[in-house]
Amino acid sequence: MVRSVIDVLDLSTKELEEIIAVAQDIIAKPDDYADACKRKKLATLFFEPSTRTRLSFEAAMYELGGNVISVSSADSSSAMKGESVADTVKTVSCYADIIAMRHPKEGAALVASKAAGIPVINAGDGGHCHPTQTLADLLTIYREKGRFSDLTVGLCGDLKFGRTVHSLINALTRYNNVRFVLISPEELKVPSYVKRDVLKEKGYSYIQTTNLESYMPELDILYMTRVQRERFFNEEDYLRLKDSYILTPDKLKNAKKDLSILHPLPRVNEIAVAIDDDPRACYFKQVKNGKYMRMSLILKLLKEAGRI
Ligand code: CP
Repeated sequence: MVRSVIDVLDLSTKELEEIIAVAQDIIAKPDDYADACKRKKLATLFFEPSTRTRLSFEAAMYELGGNVISVSSADSSSAMKGESVADTVKTVSCYADIIAMRHPKEGAALVASKAAGIPVINAGDGGHCHPTQTLADLLTIYREKGRFSDLTVGLCGDLKFGRTVHSLINALTRYNNVRFVLISPEELKVPSYVKRDVLKEKGYSYIQTTNLESYMPELDILYMTRVQRERFFNEEDYLRLKDSYILTPDKLKNAKKDLSILHPLPRVNEIAVAIDDDPRACYFKQVKNGKYMRMSLILKLLKEAGRI
């Protein structure tokens, strides 16, 4: 079966480091890659809204000299008529060389990868995984800190539904001496399967707290997340929890001078715009890094599939 990436753990530590090395090379010498995917097509199938992920995949393919075909919303495709994910990707495989797919249902990308016959990249499946956001996060951490080990990482906000949080924890538990501070309201704690199967199973120390400020001085990385309205069944709960954490300049007074503030974006209220000019704000660098890591991943998967 052709290789797909559904979870960040589908990539070994060595492969992640190779993807980072190629992304750094693309940043340094973009012209060397300008024709790397000439006459190849990426299909972006997005059945859930997106700005960054879809456009960065598309920009990535154009910068590799390839082309893009796209479904940008569920209601503009035959999914609205009841077509299954498997039939959709079998069809798209007749037109494209590689697929990036976002879907509201957990497991949809895995189903697609089994039916497609061409590489499928999971661009987010419900509250489950978002591996290419993790690639963006990892390149950002690497470029800011020069390492993945010996870090105290604060994850703050919606840690229950935040698929980017689950993927990042999985990726960082491959490195030594990473300490996690899990900051969330009681109702939005990291799911117990992540604590049991990832953190405890691999012997990583973590702290669960509702209080961001008391742990701020210890953090090397602060990964803020949005409380996701679309994952709530009850609007009242969303309204009660949505502004649980709002990072303002005042709250950074006791933070390390070399703290790196990340956020997968979109942001709603959880980081004040006043922080954007703080040199510790890395979230727009993270957006840019996402494009380079997606370029590197597209190249890897198309090479392995024998398509370039
Ligand atoms: N970070 C992220 O997945 O953003 P989009 O939802 O805009 O793609």
